[in-house]
Amino acid sequence: MQKVFVARPIFPEVIERLKQHFEVDWNDGPPLSPDELARRLADKDGALTAGDPVGAATFAAAPRLRVVANMAVGYNNFDIPAFNAANVLATNTPDVLNESTADFGWALMMAAARRMAESERWLRAGEWHGWRYDGFLGADVHGSTLGVVGMGRIGQAIARRARGFAMRVVYHNRSRVAPEVEAELNAEYLSKEDLLRQADHVVLVLPYSPASHHTIGAAELALMKPTATLTNIARGGIVDDAALAEALREKRIAAAGLDVFEGEPSVHHALLEVPNVVLTPHIASASTATRRAMANLAADNLMAALGVGPRAGRPPNPINPEVIGKARA
Ligand code: GLV
Repeated sequence: MQKVFVARPIFPEVIERLKQHFEVDWNDGPPLSPDELARRLADKDGALTAGDPVGAATFAAAPRLRVVANMAVGYNNFDIPAFNAANVLATNTPDVLNESTADFGWALMMAAARRMAESERWLRAGEWHGWRYDGFLGADVHGSTLGVVGMGRIGQAIARRARGFAMRVVYHNRSRVAPEVEAELNAEYLSKEDLLRQADHVVLVLPYSPASHHTIGAAELALMKPTATLTNIARGGIVDDAALAEALREKRIAAAGLDVFEGEPSVHHALLEVPNVVLTPHIASASTATRRAMANLAADNLMAALGVGPRAGRPPNPINPEVIGKARA
């Protein structure tokens, strides 16, 4: 029987599905170090990960490993050239999380704009002694300009919601989206700099890569309106967190909503000290239904890549399909 390893705690029913086809070992505790992960993969044919770094050192320690299925759409934790060199298939879980993640991007943006976390902390601290006309004044979302950086599937789902809020939608992306998509979303393409100058609420939804490292740093924050908000539901590292904390402290922008952080699960101490930021622990896709769909899709990919189940040999979401059918190197 082939052996698989599940690197993070996961829905028990997904373990049961995998057990129908494989000998299953899993980590029910905190994330493993890369060395510990490699050790657990030594005799495995496949793995299901969620953000765990995987690359050449993993493959050197795991000669039978043929597939690693990431339970996430982003896969910057995978060294894809190393996967290709070893002929190991990488898969991810796109699409099933688009709408839940877009909902959450809106929730964070609105919480930042309307100061929900900040005012709740104040209320809980017993500071509320009566209604005031100027209590926690924030920025309107309706009728304002939404700036989406990264107009992929999630970015488009965010932009689509803006119609109900009568917003102007501007976006920046590596390349312009098709004219019919621009027309459907009523979205106008701008350079990154023009978007930052014009948007009232900037939402980041682009994939992380060395090219997108610090897409937003001190120079970019300086272009934004002092009344603007910045929301990051993409990846830590896309924003220079130290520069953002400084801009928030000096009120050079009004507020931020952050679900992802450089070096998470640690959070830059300066972000923890400023009141005008809403901080959540990487949960944008975390509705029960969506996390269940992601787990099952990762399992579908793992099973198909290892030749079992209804899609045997045809995994739905290969990242490097060119290695399918090649012997492990
Ligand atoms: C979560 O961050 C994902 O990439 O799915």
